[in-house]
Amino acid sequence: MKGIILAGGRGTRLYPLTRAVSKQLLPVYDKPRVYYPLSVLMLAAIRDILLISTPDDLPQFQRVLGDGSQWGLSVSYAEQAEPRGIAEALLIGARFAAGLPVALVLGDNVFYGSGLQDTLRRAAALERGAVVFAYAVGDPQRYGIVELGGVDAEGRHVALSIEEKPVQPRSNLAIPGMYFYDGEACSLARSLRPSARGELEITDLHQIYLARGELRVELLGRGTAWLDAGTHGALLDAANFVRVVQDRQGLMIACPEEIAWRMGFIDATRLDELARELPDEYARYLRGLLS
Ligand code: TTP
Repeated sequence: MKGIILAGGRGTRLYPLTRAVSKQLLPVYDKPRVYYPLSVLMLAAIRDILLISTPDDLPQFQRVLGDGSQWGLSVSYAEQAEPRGIAEALLIGARFAAGLPVALVLGDNVFYGSGLQDTLRRAAALERGAVVFAYAVGDPQRYGIVELGGVDAEGRHVALSIEEKPVQPRSNLAIPGMYFYDGEACSLARSLRPSARGELEITDLHQIYLARGELRVELLGRGTAWLDAGTHGALLDAANFVRVVQDRQGLMIACPEEIAWRMGFIDATRLDELARELPDEYARYLRGLLS
């Protein structure tokens, strides 16, 4: 499976911070925000990744992520000239995906929690259709909401309905910005038309899979944190969350060097080389993994 990180957008809710810097490059405590969705793809064993951002921001992402080879990945880049919707990522990424299954993750979504890797791997093993995730929220009117039906023969939840920002939600299960698709997604995305707000809506793509009876849902349990930090307060909360959990456990969240090594993308010698380029504390952490 291949992976796409969509990291464009205007980030207007974070002005003036995002006038000069992409929202996905702002720090969440000790790492640029894009490290978090990148880590999610790595944990799903996805190594071939396309990062999509604005023409202005792409060079900075290239500075941060390079070609990915330092972490045993291949990272390539493409432009989204205007924020014309999340589903446009599948049009921009069609050549990259080349008809193969693809995971799409938004560059500003932070996921962390127990069992996440197993859930991701199950989703990445899909053969037909699409897998989205469901996460209980207190304010379902603000999100795309999924209603669950029964389970299929493989034990996956079947989606019964999905609605974008419903006034009267049929469930409290929001769909986070991380989606797994079969090899048809990019061609299906070609049939989408812009919505009233002028965007290609990812919900419309999911409606197509739903109508085919091919939309499945993985539940992210209450032990999982999903932070989409679109406002200043939420960004600070996300940073504090990462700091509290990291300090308490002495373990890093979304550390690409560590994940690359644990997943077998790089060996111990490479990890040690990477440590040499990092500040003392970070380097000590990485060397500690080897001892
Ligand atoms: P949003 O938070 O909906 O939009 P935004 O980042 O432009 O922020 P604001 O509402 O403050 O102006 O976007 C969610 C994520 O998807 C975010 O990572 C940006 C990304 N995105 C794109 O890259 N291109 C797009 O066309 C859209 C709609 C979103």
